[in-house]
Amino acid sequence: MVLPLETYIEQNKQAFEDDLCELLRIPSVSTDSAYKDDVQRAGNWIAERLKSIGFETEIIETVGHPIVFAQSPPIENAPTVLVYGHYDVQPPDPLDEWETPPFEPHVRNGYLFARGATDDKGQFLTHIISAQAWKETADQLPVQIKFLIEGEEECGSKGLMEFLAGKYDQPGQPTAIEKISCDVAVISDGSMYGPERPAITYGLKGISYYELRLQGPNQDLHSGAFGGSVTNPANALTQMLAKLIDENGRVQIPGFYDEVLEMTDAERKQFDDLNFDEQEYMKQIGVSELSGEAGFTTLERRWSRPTFDINGLWSGYQDEGAKTVLPAKAGAKFSCRLVANQDPQKILASLESYLKEICPPGIEMELIPMHGARGVTVDLDSPFMAAAAEAIERGFGTKPCFIRTGGSIPVVTAFTEKLGIDTLLLGWGQDDDNMHSPNERFSLSDFHRGIKASAHLWAELAEIRV
Ligand code: BES
Ligand code: MN
Ligand code: MN
Repeated sequence: MVLPLETYIEQNKQAFEDDLCELLRIPSVSTDSAYKDDVQRAGNWIAERLKSIGFETEIIETVGHPIVFAQSPPIENAPTVLVYGHYDVQPPDPLDEWETPPFEPHVRNGYLFARGATDDKGQFLTHIISAQAWKETADQLPVQIKFLIEGEEECGSKGLMEFLAGKYDQPGQPTAIEKISCDVAVISDGSMYGPERPAITYGLKGISYYELRLQGPNQDLHSGAFGGSVTNPANALTQMLAKLIDENGRVQIPGFYDEVLEMTDAERKQFDDLNFDEQEYMKQIGVSELSGEAGFTTLERRWSRPTFDINGLWSGYQDEGAKTVLPAKAGAKFSCRLVANQDPQKILASLESYLKEICPPGIEMELIPMHGARGVTVDLDSPFMAAAAEAIERGFGTKPCFIRTGGSIPVVTAFTEKLGIDTLLLGWGQDDDNMHSPNERFSLSDFHRGIKASAHLWAELAEIRV
């Protein structure tokens, strides 16, 4: 006898956890070429899994790491759903801060600890497992599902962007855009509002990321013999960076706020209604005060206002003891998170001319743009949203709330621009899952409820006529 869907999911929890652990043991760190074979191995693992549950599967080679693309047969009158995820992970350093090794998954207090547990292996796997559950318990999936799982999200998605631009299209074969054409996209690569508070994310920030390099004298100098007579690039760097944001948290790049979509009163009210617990938040991150752009609440700053952050900076002597040096070079990496309507290209142009203007004499500067994507907001009033809300309620036993995030998933911008579709952002993680940090984790009960919600999502979406 064929088991009902929910029973199958209930009875196979251990097998699903074992699957996830197997994938987490592959150290698919995309940014570091030492892991290239492991990244490939993770891609193959996913392709094999999708093949084994009957998906027509291919591995698309790119300039970087491979993309796994797989599809089930079209279903008449029902929507086609594109599920995106990424099988690459962030580097695990600093290693000595992990309680158990990053690529040896361990369970503690109901959480599975490993690099990639929440970002994003544990999350996208829920959708593959739910498809498997349908296959084991019904004749066919109720909707056509296409999986697009990339291996370099954490380092800029270059291969995926080239794929979407048609660079790997073959004559006589469907183009990339034809391949991934769909009615709606689904991504689980983010967070819920809190424990037991499932959520649908309807806004992602965009990003523009830069490296700034300053060169002063042709070599490091004695700071006594030469200091005061030439511009010190480290002094110049800190002066320039300080001119990019003021004490009220306002970014000083000319025109930066020109296109910012201001929040409506209704939206501000809706954020207020979430009763965000600032004390708990301060405790979680270990700070005694919160700060940010004047005139906005913490949630508004995190979710709806553009920001500026230095991500790294270097110059001069950093080892033990003191060294009286006037460094020849200084540099920084910094980025802005953008909101809907801000244009990364315009901001780059304005930033570059502003930096040139404030660059002190005797310094050569070079500004290198690293990556950029626009912010996205998703329509709350679509039938797809309603279907997702219903599926989450069935999976988690609680209605979802609607939230935004300060994180970025650049491919969503591409889906909006190239396919004109909405993306359902159904994060199963938590903000304190330590994404990109030591001791990354994923709640096993959320993993299982995510699988259940995903299994219901296919059925709910199948009700929508397209
Ligand atoms: N999963 C994250 C994005 C995310 C973070 C969504 C938090 C929701 C909440 C993703 O893997 C990521 O790290 N994105 C990068 C994108 C960047 C490299 C362009 C980010 O946000 O820093
Ligand atoms: Mn991610
Ligand atoms: Mn990430």
